[in-house]
Amino acid sequence: MELNTEIFSQFDKKWALLTAGTMDSFNSMTVSWGGLGTIWNKPVATVYVRTSRYTHEFMDKGDYFTVSFYPESLKQTLGVFGSKSGRDIDKMNYEGLTPATAGETVTFAEAEITLVCKKLFMQQLDVNNIPEDIVQRFYSSDAPHDMYIGEVVDIISKG
Ligand SMILES: Cc1cc2nc3c(=O)[nH]c(=O)nc-3n(C[C@H](O)[C@H](O)[C@H](O)COP(=O)(O)O)c2cc1C
Repeated sequence: MELNTEIFSQFDKKWALLTAGTMDSFNSMTVSWGGLGTIWNKPVATVYVRTSRYTHEFMDKGDYFTVSFYPESLKQTLGVFGSKSGRDIDKMNYEGLTPATAGETVTFAEAEITLVCKKLFMQQLDVNNIPEDIVQRFYSSDAPHDMYIGEVVDIISKG
């Protein structure tokens, strides 16, 4: 059997936008850590959001979020969304990204694929359960990650 590992590079190499909030008030950030899988017999997407991110506030406020994937031509924009905070730039009206309703939350019309997710679970990663070298590298000066598991309730594809 040939194992197609492309799915693993979707987050890592292609990156994604994580968006939470409503059309009136939302925020997006670039993510490259995450996964797709199954728990409690549901298809789920998992993301990891440092508590310092503006997007974190929106993740906690609402019950839904989206994970959306983009063509290579938008990589530079994803770079901006991954280095500038919505506290400092207007991510709701950013040139080249058109906000679009996705169920109870938001994605962008330019997305190739959007996973609409309903929050099922969140918990802060406990550094006591993470190998010391990783704690040193990722948490010695940065805020902890909260893990969010969302049930994939819809997949919007540009087709
Ligand atoms: C390629 C890439 C991947 C990233 N992945 C994550 C991630 O998985 N989790 C996270 O908390 N931050 C991640 N970031 C950092 C956030 O996207 C960045 O801090 C962003 O400016 C936060 O925006 P906000 O304050 O508007 O939420 C990533 C950045 C880049 C460039």
